[in-house]
Order: sequence, then structure tokens, then C-alpha cells
Amino acid sequence: MKKKAHKRTPAIRIGHDDRLFVLTGAGVSAESGLATFRGAGGLWHGHRVEDVACPEAWERDPELVWNFYSMRRKRAGAVKPNPAHLALAELEHRLGERFFLCTQNVDHLHERAGSKRLVHMHGELFQSRCESCDGEPFADENLYASLADIPRCRCGARIRPNIVWFGEAILHLPLIARELERCTVLLAVGTSGLVQPAASFVHWAGTLPGSVAIRTYYVGPEEPANASAFTDIFLGKAGELLPRLFEVQDSRVRGKRMRSP
Ligand code: OAD
Repeated sequence: MKKKAHKRTPAIRIGHDDRLFVLTGAGVSAESGLATFRGAGGLWHGHRVEDVACPEAWERDPELVWNFYSMRRKRAGAVKPNPAHLALAELEHRLGERFFLCTQNVDHLHERAGSKRLVHMHGELFQSRCESCDGEPFADENLYASLADIPRCRCGARIRPNIVWFGEAILHLPLIARELERCTVLLAVGTSGLVQPAASFVHWAGTLPGSVAIRTYYVGPEEPANASAFTDIFLGKAGELLPRLFEVQDSRVRGKRMRSP
């Protein structure tokens, strides 16, 4: 793998007929000041998944769970998108419907940078939902510190964070699978390649029968656990690499020239 790692200024070419699938992880928000999960000082060092991020934890101690997500709401509400988020929003602007962003992150930094064609496969930090009925998730920026603070749904059950916990099904899977199958370029940014199913997306990409050869890239300061699956690895911080990483051919305008009004 070492031989594939780039230190020079690289380029990913996005041609007229390419479709780009981008997968982001906690690393894309690191330069905004949000902690990743597994690095030194990562969220899973100070908190155990079993205590705050699984259905059993919610049953056992909902106050501790809400304290964890309230703390994360507070932190995420205080930071801004960084050049990596902005570069991906700019890329979407150029590629239009040939661009699709799937984030594992629950913060809203991609949206705040201008991204629109995106899904949050692990849920959204600034949304809550009923633990029991199928009422829609709703926008919620409140911080809940004690059991008495936790609101109740109209059905009487408790309101929980709209986060996908370990052991729960990821969101938007049919749409993600469709976009993965038909993409021709996959770019993963700032994710350790340890959590499924996201770690397998690099294998699912471009599997539509008759697809052209898929190119797959990773951007981050260190190689992910699934590094051997990528065509190329670009070592560096996302906020430094992404703004100068792409050579884009805009969508072809067939048969007609743009005219001034
Ligand atoms: P991790 O904390 O596992 O990995 C973060 C990755 O970001 C690491 O590989 C770092 O090298 C990289 N990184 C750090 N700084 C970076 C920078 N400036 N630019 C680019 N990359 C950088 O986080 P994820 O892979 O996102 O799930 O974790 C996946 C899931 O596991 C999370 O969504 C969360 C967690 O448990 C749930 O909570 C359900």
C-alpha cells in the first residue's frame, strides 16, 4: 500500500461522463474542530459505545445518552465548515446530478457549506424522533441534561436523538446502493474504514452490469483499514488537499452552444 500513497500535489480527473460518489467520515470535520471517534482524544476514548451509542444504553440510562448528544450538539453548533466541506459543495455545484455525497457524520457542516445532494447514513445530530411510533424526525437544537428534561411524544413515549446507534439499520440504504452501483469514481474522505457497511462501499462501487472501470480514492492523513481496496491513496488533511484535488470537465452541452440572452 505504501507505494500508492501520494505526497505530491495529486489530481483526480472527473470526465464528462463520470459520476462521483463521495463518502465522508469524521475526519472531514476535524479541521472545523470536531473530534473524530478513534484517534487520540477521539470521542470513543472518553465515552464507551456501550454506554451512549446503542439501544441497550438508551434503555439503561437515557439521561447519560442525552448528555452525550447534548454535548455534541453544543460543540457542533459552535463550529464552521472548513475548506474540505466548501470544496465538496463547489464540486457538487459543477457536477450537478453526477455528484452524490453520503456522510457518516451527524453534524450539519456539509449543508452549511452548501451541499444539497447528500444523505446522512448515521442520522442527524440536530434532529430528534420518537423512540416508539413512526412519527417523522423533527429539527431539534435543544440540550437535555436530566431525565425530567427529556420530552415525550404525543404517543407518550420518550423523544430520542435521531442517530443510528450500533445494532440499528443505517438510513437511506436503497438510494445509497443505487448511487454506488452507478458511480464511476468513488472518493472516501476522513474515515477509518473500520465501520460497516460504509467500509465496504469501496467494494460495492461501480458494480452495475456493463459499468465502466471504477476508480476509487481515499483522502486523509493516514491509510484507512481498507486501504488495499482503493486505486489510490492521497495522504494529507482534507481541508488542504480537497480544494486542489480535482480536474473537472463540466457536463457536456450536446449540439448547442450557450448563447448570451
Ligand atoms: P474515525 O474516528 O474512525 O476515523 C476518522 C478518520 O479521519 C481517521 O482515519 C483519521 O486519520 C482521519 N482524519 C483525521 N483528521 C483528518 C483530516 N484533517 N482530514 C482527513 N481525514 C482526517 O471516524 P469514522 O470513520 O467517521 O458511527 O467513524 C465511522 C463511524 O464510527 C462514525 O460515523 C460513528 C463511529 O462510531 C456511529 O456513531 C454510528
